[in-house]
Amino acid sequence: MTYPDIRPRRLRRTAALRRLVEETRVAPAELILPLFVKQGLTEPRPISSLPGVLQHTRESLRKAAHDAVRAGVGGLMLFGVPEQSAKDETGSAGIDPDGILNAAIRDVIAEVGDSTVVMSDLCLDEFTSHGHCGVLTADGAVDNDRTLESYAQMGVAQAEAGAHMVGPSGMMDGQIGVVREALDRAGHQDVSVLAYAAKYASAFYGPFREAVESTLQGDRRTYQQDPGNAREALREVDLDVAEGADIVMVKPALPYLDVVRAVRERVDVPVAAYQVSGEYAMVEAAAANGWIDRDRVILESLTSIKRAGAQMTLTYWAAEAAHLLRERL
Ligand code: PBG
Repeated sequence: MTYPDIRPRRLRRTAALRRLVEETRVAPAELILPLFVKQGLTEPRPISSLPGVLQHTRESLRKAAHDAVRAGVGGLMLFGVPEQSAKDETGSAGIDPDGILNAAIRDVIAEVGDSTVVMSDLCLDEFTSHGHCGVLTADGAVDNDRTLESYAQMGVAQAEAGAHMVGPSGMMDGQIGVVREALDRAGHQDVSVLAYAAKYASAFYGPFREAVESTLQGDRRTYQQDPGNAREALREVDLDVAEGADIVMVKPALPYLDVVRAVRERVDVPVAAYQVSGEYAMVEAAAANGWIDRDRVILESLTSIKRAGAQMTLTYWAAEAAHLLRERL
């Protein structure tokens, strides 16, 4: 019988030792909370496939933003849900300064000012009658370059409303460069761009489609990436950095941790990951059945995303996880 000379268990013996050698520790300030605001709503409305997440009224959004800031989150990402009657072929309500998202940006800035980072989703899908992320050609394809013109206007509208950071998420070629240039020309050199650089055509977005009442028929495979492709993500990231992205994001998160790691090794700008609606819903559903320890799974998944290389994470648990992290200290 030989006994080991080297015993890694020594450093696991007490909670204090484990805390001392912990390599990855998530902080509330690196969590970003996505928030949904719906036009014309009088009461906040639950989203059945995202238990605990609400469609907010303009009023309840302000309160949710305030509470999240108090919890210590690092940022807020706003999504607008227009009434069906406000949707059209080109998604013009996304550009209209009085459209629900631009109005909500002004509300939230009035509430929280510079105390957190206010970000807005820069995409047409919530605003188009057909639910695609861009403008369509006569034969129904998504027209890349016409869509870019709309993104440029939408980015400027969001900056005028006060957004600190805009998040182009439509995966059109050239979107970062076009938005950057439009912001600069309009005098918004200080508004930053969070590029959804490697965004996959993922079935994990299912519950989000309920949250924004998506009208999409079909799928987004002609613009979002194929789940099997990792090298292609690096190409997308390189292009976005060259076009002026301040931060690059990988989305979804947990099923794509290899991509998060590869992107981290490739670029020096901050890397973000988006723990999407389906990732959240799976955990909530399993926890509701008593099959997993919900709070531990939340923190473990956020730790894993950070360990893979994401410096910040968008998560529907941001405010709650901020509280959990503080309790753990
Ligand atoms: C597009 C957008 C989507 C999500 C964020 N921005 C939906 C899509 O690409 O179909 C999904 C986020 C989630 O599932 O949590 N505006």
